[in-house]
Amino acid sequence: MAQINPSILSADFANLAAEAEAVQGADWLHVDVMDNHFVPNLTLGVPVVESLHKATRTPLDCHLMIEEPDRWAPAYVEAGAGSVTFHAEAAAAPVRLARELRTKGARASMALKPATPVEPYEDLLPELDMLLVMTVEPGFGGQAFLDIMLPKIRRTRQLIEKHGLEMWLQVDGGVSAETVERCAEAGADVFVAGSAVYSAEDPAEAVRVLRAQAENARHTCR
Ligand code: DX5
Ligand code: ZN
Repeated sequence: MAQINPSILSADFANLAAEAEAVQGADWLHVDVMDNHFVPNLTLGVPVVESLHKATRTPLDCHLMIEEPDRWAPAYVEAGAGSVTFHAEAAAAPVRLARELRTKGARASMALKPATPVEPYEDLLPELDMLLVMTVEPGFGGQAFLDIMLPKIRRTRQLIEKHGLEMWLQVDGGVSAETVERCAEAGADVFVAGSAVYSAEDPAEAVRVLRAQAENARHTCR
């Protein structure tokens, strides 16, 4: 089943509870944490995640675009995140960190920037519940989808199948009605969409449409 995770980066930060409500039926709420070091943008941290967790029943998918995730990521589980994604480029000890996140009760996930290949991480995949293949350079919403990432999505799906893993494959960046099918055909099953959902007149309906598109593409091509 395809999952759609609206990114609140494109929502109104002064009305986060209402913005979470506006995408009822979403599988997860995608929360972009940026520290102005790992990426040239600054968003929110643990206290906001804690409040958001109290304000919505939708589980939180925290995408940490931060330096030193080994030090900071576990606090996001304590704040209520159901899934925590750290970046491979920033983690000092990804296996240890993934195990710590799982032990604390969250799904452990690792993200790859566009220029980071998946192959060096093949042996780590069983330690993860999800791999995030970025389809834009992280840092901002509303950027154009990078088609050149489709082969990496395909190769990641092949590795997951080769090892018989249950893990999810997430894509993030430029996912919209125009691009979601290509991602699904390539093997993604969790889709982050910020501007495509929150710029829609009816965000909840946009989620349903994206999910249906992704489901159809998966069934016809895989
Ligand atoms: C980008 C963030 C994304 C962003 C996606 O660095 O990780 O989650 O919100 O926004 P769209 O869907 O507009 O590309
Ligand atoms: Zn993100």
